[in-house]
Amino acid sequence: MKSIFRMLAVIVPIVVTATCSLADTTPGKPISGKKEFEKHCSSCHANGGNTINQAKTLHKQAMAANGIRTARDIIKTMRNPGPGMTRFDESTISDREAKVIAAYVLKAFNK
Ligand code: HEC
Repeated sequence: MKSIFRMLAVIVPIVVTATCSLADTTPGKPISGKKEFEKHCSSCHANGGNTINQAKTLHKQAMAANGIRTARDIIKTMRNPGPGMTRFDESTISDREAKVIAAYVLKAFNK
């Protein structure tokens, strides 16, 4: 009986640690919009461009032409993207993280 408890004492912390490390960011810790953008977006949107659809870059004018003007619009695109773009749901990118990424996009590619 004792050995079962001993085993649990070893297994439980391992499972908890593994589960926590799945979350992208630690609650309360600051998020870097630039780093998260580079991690999730820059494979297709390097320097705010678009390697798949050149009419849909992340530059201010291109986005405005497609009706994307605010952080909310950008988050909407992440949650429900057009053809060729990866869908990012809340388990991949939390709302908190999505807001930081969207703010970064607006600031970094505002020409
Ligand atoms: C696998 C490639 C890929 C990745 C990764 C990707 N995108 Fe996209 N993105 C696209 C494509 C393709 C489109 C154009 C889709 C369409 O036709 O509507 C697009 C369009 C967009 C648009 C609309 C741009 C416009 O001018 O209309 C925004 C905003 C955007 N992506 C943000 C992001 C963000 C933020 C990330 C990271 C969280 C990301 N994308 C990751 C491929 C990608």
